[in-house]
Amino acid sequence: MQQARISIRGGRPLSGTVSISGAKNAALPELAAVCLSADLVEFQNVPLVEDIKVMFAALGEIGARGEIRGNSINAALPAVKEALVSHEIAKTTRASVLLLGPLLARHGFAKVSFPGGCPIGERKINFHLQGLEAMGAEIVAQGEYIIAKCKRLRGIEYLFPAKTVTGTENLIMAASLAQGTTVLRNCALEPEVTDLVGLLRKMGADISGQDTDTIIIRGQATLHGAAHRIIPDRIEAGTYLIAGCFAGNEIDIQGVMPGHLRSLLAILDSMGAAMTVSGQSIRVKGQAALAPVEVTTEPYPGFPTDLQAQLTTLLTQAQGVSRVRERIFNDRFHHVGELNRLGAAIEVEHDTAVIRGPARLRGAVIKTTDLRASAALVLGGLQAAGETVIENSYQLFRGYESMPQKLQNLGADIKII
Ligand code: EPU
Repeated sequence: MQQARISIRGGRPLSGTVSISGAKNAALPELAAVCLSADLVEFQNVPLVEDIKVMFAALGEIGARGEIRGNSINAALPAVKEALVSHEIAKTTRASVLLLGPLLARHGFAKVSFPGGCPIGERKINFHLQGLEAMGAEIVAQGEYIIAKCKRLRGIEYLFPAKTVTGTENLIMAASLAQGTTVLRNCALEPEVTDLVGLLRKMGADISGQDTDTIIIRGQATLHGAAHRIIPDRIEAGTYLIAGCFAGNEIDIQGVMPGHLRSLLAILDSMGAAMTVSGQSIRVKGQAALAPVEVTTEPYPGFPTDLQAQLTTLLTQAQGVSRVRERIFNDRFHHVGELNRLGAAIEVEHDTAVIRGPARLRGAVIKTTDLRASAALVLGGLQAAGETVIENSYQLFRGYESMPQKLQNLGADIKII
């Protein structure tokens, strides 16, 4: 898998139905939450992607027992064997840092390698550490590792200086087992945070304020087991929605929560895309003439950075000049050079990609460096004439369940080589 390449023969229309998998970015913190209890936690609708397998392996190193069966995972951590998240684990998924809060809260000690993940710019964890220190943890950096210890964590009032998704999740989990009440302000509002809060409540946590930016957690002595179905992946759904907008395509996307995709739906609507939302499905029909747009990435409910690259590929086909401004990460335009190799006309000016469309794309050998860029390049390859080969496509499998198969079912000529 690490060496995998993807070959696409573009230009075939996509049509049919695609079912959306569970949300990777909800499943990752929720698996970390297994560390908060000695009991069994049962998950359904887990996307079987590489990042999830890595997180499951990390739990195993810590001492958890469990199994992956289809899209279900059962896991329990009766006792912490070793409160260590090794460099081998942390180098592939940044989500490994999510184990820090739960391990400290349950076990009073954690040694976690600094997180790796996508090279998309500076990805600090200072607010995670600041919050945990305020709760009473002593934290030192030793080589590649963060070493943290504490007696029982205590409740705090903490204002996140800026919104952070995993930072919010880490502190909510830590506070669930802390002594006293924690009030977290300026929390991230992403649906994945809300889904985690839903799981923690089932485990016995006392949390209020979910879906607002002030979350209040009354710490408990212990948490217990629970069963939880993970929400659909809004980024995967958004990726297929964007795929459906290319001329000639007509896709029915099923198992979606359209409310989680409002910002994308509004943007695609302003471009002239033809979409019908009904219940948990969205039908999209590609249009020959799409209007250009100006878009800025923002924390939820704004337009997500995780769809920036895929939208950029679509905008190569719009009639005129579009601008996409990236405000969450400071280096998330690696797809631009590769899209240009396919024939796109995109320039990056500071934090903004300026896209001149429509461009006639043609196949080439290209290379991906991060997860969402990979999806953007797959969309480019599907649109390009001739063969596109995407190198380093392991990145795609970190976060998209069965994407080549799902696209084959829609009629794409795509294979793993
Ligand atoms: N930041 C700080 N200090 C912190 C934490 C964050 O300065 O302590 C900054 C970061 O440097 C960044 C910004 O705040 O510029 C936002 O980072 P955030 O912490 O919100 O990102 P994350 O929690 O590391 C999660 C997702 C990402 C997604 C971002 C933004 C998971 C496992 N990862 O990352 O998902 O892009 O939120 O929505 O939930 C992906 O799935 O492809 C992916 C990268």
